[in-house]
Amino acid sequence: MMGPMRWVSLCRLDELVEGKGKYVEIDGFQLAVFLHQAKPYVIDNYCPHAGGNLAAGHVDGTGCAVCPLHDWLFDVKTGSSLNGNCGIKTYTASLEPDGTVTVEVDDGEETMAMPNTGPMTADIATGTPSPG
Ligand code: FES
Repeated sequence: MMGPMRWVSLCRLDELVEGKGKYVEIDGFQLAVFLHQAKPYVIDNYCPHAGGNLAAGHVDGTGCAVCPLHDWLFDVKTGSSLNGNCGIKTYTASLEPDGTVTVEVDDGEETMAMPNTGPMTADIATGTPSPG
């Protein structure tokens, strides 16, 4: 169920570097922020292929975030993947007059929805020992 939407501040524009990713965790959302052609874009940080850390990647010249693990491409505007039939969530980002980058999040979601199916979540490097 969708809750009310609200804007939260993420970072300052001058913390972003053109073409590079920045990881921001806010209210349980794990986000990758990219500056592409001087505009901020925000997507989920978690690569659906095998849990890569998208913020550690970069944006290529066509506006695709490149996963640092296996080079899958995700359009930063739509979240759609150019590899296979998956995609990731995108968030609407805005730039305030004072240079703050804000993002619109759904207040009804308590935490980001992590896919819990199959091996895709298996090897994100959390350092958590597996039970048993
Ligand atoms: S984990 Fe992202 S491409 Fe493999």
